[in-house]
Amino acid sequence: MTAQIEILDVQKHYGSFHALRDITLSIPKGQFVALVGPSGCGKSTLLRSIAGLETISGGTMRIAGEVVNDMPPRKRDLAMVFQSYALYPHMNVRDNLTYALRLKRVPKSERYAKADEVAKVIGLEALLDRYPRELSGGQRQRVAMGRAIIREPKAFLFDEPLSNLDAALRVKMRKEVRALHDRIGATSVYVTHDQIEAMTMADHVVVLRAGVIEQQGRPLDLYERPANQFVAGFIGSPAMNFVPAVTGADGRSVTLGMTKQALLPLDLQVAPDRPVTVGLRPEHLEICAPETNGAFPVTVGAIERTGSSCYLFSEEEPEIIIVTDGATPVKKGETLGLRIQPERVHLFDRESTLTLRG
Ligand SMILES: Nc1ncnc2c1ncn2[C@@H]1O[C@H](COP(=O)(O)OP(=O)(O)O)[C@@H](O)[C@H]1O
Ligand SMILES: [Mg+2]
Repeated sequence: MTAQIEILDVQKHYGSFHALRDITLSIPKGQFVALVGPSGCGKSTLLRSIAGLETISGGTMRIAGEVVNDMPPRKRDLAMVFQSYALYPHMNVRDNLTYALRLKRVPKSERYAKADEVAKVIGLEALLDRYPRELSGGQRQRVAMGRAIIREPKAFLFDEPLSNLDAALRVKMRKEVRALHDRIGATSVYVTHDQIEAMTMADHVVVLRAGVIEQQGRPLDLYERPANQFVAGFIGSPAMNFVPAVTGADGRSVTLGMTKQALLPLDLQVAPDRPVTVGLRPEHLEICAPETNGAFPVTVGAIERTGSSCYLFSEEEPEIIIVTDGATPVKKGETLGLRIQPERVHLFDRESTLTLRG
């Protein structure tokens, strides 16, 4: 089966600036793909290249099997949903939804029948006569989505559509957007700088940095098996702890280079006496008594309690963050033992920053 969107070795230059490098990505029909990465990494450039709003400088882009490199945006049959969901203020929801059909000179009765149908999908049947100013932020976002749905595009393209909303509404809307995607069997490409949004919404996550795909895969695969230190640090919150270390003479352990040196056993064989970086996820560190066999000691430098969780910051350098149960009875200045399952220890080559596991 051909992919709905096929991106092969795509390049984008802005003058001498290489904004997208060797981008290869295949998006099957029905998939929800998230493009995630820090600001300026090229997410919008890639999305706009798919939409045809940017001309690519090299490579091939196919939509539903057809090469679209030189095809203008309106011929591509894609729907772009922006952050600023500009609705027409002087039109009610019904007319906002069907505006594109009106431009196509679809008769009114047909247009309004379609509006009823789409309103059901987005759950706005009761609000068709309202004007945008009479809607909440979330409802306006749904109208914007409905306006895209009504065109029955080959794919939906989202560029940070939720970043204007407050935190609670964002959590609600990410579920709604995903549910809508599933209900209409859409193909969606979703740009976000928020790794939680990418992890929770997408089937397939693409992590970009400086115009390069660092890794792509299923959300939990990226969390469990990051290809390099960048992805390891980007996926997960709070971010993975990184500690410089040296592998042992047996290649079955590492010595952490902290104020108090600590030995960690490994469940894999590595080259001996090699400089590495150890990655420890804050949520994988277990607290125990400092004298426990195999535990390494840290002193609690600061504590943050959110109620549900407790964040501990070590006094030692490099600072280690530990996430534990909200009710954990610890005090500043206390020395704790930390344990971690050997299979949860991440290991990166110090120089290349590539992962040394699997
Ligand atoms: N029209 C342009 N001309 C020159 N540089 C651009 C242009 N658009 C974007 N860039 C640059 O390309 C890089 C990627 O931008 P963008 O795709 O908007 O990043 P993101 O959406 O990931 O924050 C940035 O360094 C940005 O400054
Ligand atoms: Mg952007």
